[in-house]
Amino acid sequence: MDKVAKLEIDGKVHELPIVVGSEGERGIDISALRQATGCITLDDGYGNTGSCQSNITFIDGEKGILRYRGIPIEVLAEKSFFIETAYLLIYGYLPTHKELRRFSELLTQNEMLHEDLKFHFEGFPAHAHPMAILSSMINATSCFVPGVLDAYDPTVFESQAARLLAKVRTIAAFAYRKSRGLPIMYPKPVYKYTANFLHMMFSEPYQDYDLNPEVVKALDLIFVLHADHEQNCSTATVRMIASSQANIFACAAGGVCALWGPLHGGANQAVIEMLEQIHRDGDDGSKFIAAAKDKKSGKRLMGFGHRVYKNYDPRAKIIKAQCDKVLGLLKISDPLLDIAKRLEAAALHDSYFVERKLYPNVDFYSGIIMRAIGIPLEMFTVMFAIGRMPGWIANYKEVMDATNGRISRPRQIYTGPTEQPYVSIDKRGKK
Ligand code: SDX
Repeated sequence: MDKVAKLEIDGKVHELPIVVGSEGERGIDISALRQATGCITLDDGYGNTGSCQSNITFIDGEKGILRYRGIPIEVLAEKSFFIETAYLLIYGYLPTHKELRRFSELLTQNEMLHEDLKFHFEGFPAHAHPMAILSSMINATSCFVPGVLDAYDPTVFESQAARLLAKVRTIAAFAYRKSRGLPIMYPKPVYKYTANFLHMMFSEPYQDYDLNPEVVKALDLIFVLHADHEQNCSTATVRMIASSQANIFACAAGGVCALWGPLHGGANQAVIEMLEQIHRDGDDGSKFIAAAKDKKSGKRLMGFGHRVYKNYDPRAKIIKAQCDKVLGLLKISDPLLDIAKRLEAAALHDSYFVERKLYPNVDFYSGIIMRAIGIPLEMFTVMFAIGRMPGWIANYKEVMDATNGRISRPRQIYTGPTEQPYVSIDKRGKK
């Protein structure tokens, strides 16, 4: 295999080093390109551009492989749980009993919000989207964190990361309760992370929510499967913000905003809206698929396709299997699941999708489980954000721990007007 790439421009051959990753991926290092050639590269959407070298998560899109710190997602889904997986992503190894106990206690100590933050929720209208509340309240929470504006200090990173991971769940639950005009339910130290979230969401002052262990496990699995995904749009955003040395809360709030888009984390809500529309129309799915193939329709088969996976998203496989299990346990028969399965079967045999290597992604089935649990539709992307928080924290830490860290600042190719005179207003025409 070549160790350098040769690029010929204007009759001159330039040698560019090739970086090889631990899984054999190869990247052409262009960090000296502009200085050597006067040219930059152009890659709309960064489909061919690596923004960093990272030790956190590996994806092989052709084979449908996903590993957190080298451990396959299928194994973590079967053997791990969210807080252990979070520790693995953030620190790079599976914790001992003692480390896990300490981490879990740190999360419990930090699960409450400062009482003054309650008043911020009063300012949001009941119909406010919880992703807007989440991004705002993550930044508002940082105002109550001592030293948050100090320069990054690895010795205080853990307490700030624990605050963020612990409180994101409390903010989400409070946002839901306020949107329904319900009294907020405080976290209970006796409950572990995911159970505590369900308690804060669905308990009442007069009656605790009945924590079905299978339901807790299903939501915990959703969090594990969403915990990281290399340089997706929101994680790349977190790294971009971290590169300016902004604090961890500012980075997470930016990640929430990037995740919100329907092409990214907002897809889980869009999938259910799509399935509900198909159900209302009495469509067996064929009409919608025809529309999704017709560029003029402006419709897409939400939950299908992926920039990296050109094979079945391994997370979608796991969630699909969980759908049958959870709905069976809860004795729920959801027509949307049948529609989803019909759409998948049809699309996987349709040349339009096959030729473009469009398969179900993590968002295609996740909403079915969240519906069954009773999570409201507008909270689906918030669930994604809670799950992705450890991945954002791990990537933030990787940027801040880098010894040669530089601010991220992409270039551009300018295509606007060349130099123009300033025309005084009385000479700008009569309009
Ligand atoms: C997530 O990056 C990550 O890792 C993200 C994520 C994570 O964990 O962080 O995995 C989570 O965001 C999953 C993706 C959720 N989004 C959706 O499900 C929305 C629907 N999917 C798409 O819009 C699309 O597939 C993307 C956004 C996911 C990927 O877009 P790309 O890589 O830019 O692909 P593209 O838009 O260039 O599409 C290539 C072709 C085009 O057709 P042609 O121009 O070649 O004729 O495929 C078509 C597209 O029109 N296409 C679809 C389609 N997705 C792509 N056509 C119909 N339905 C779709 N869903």
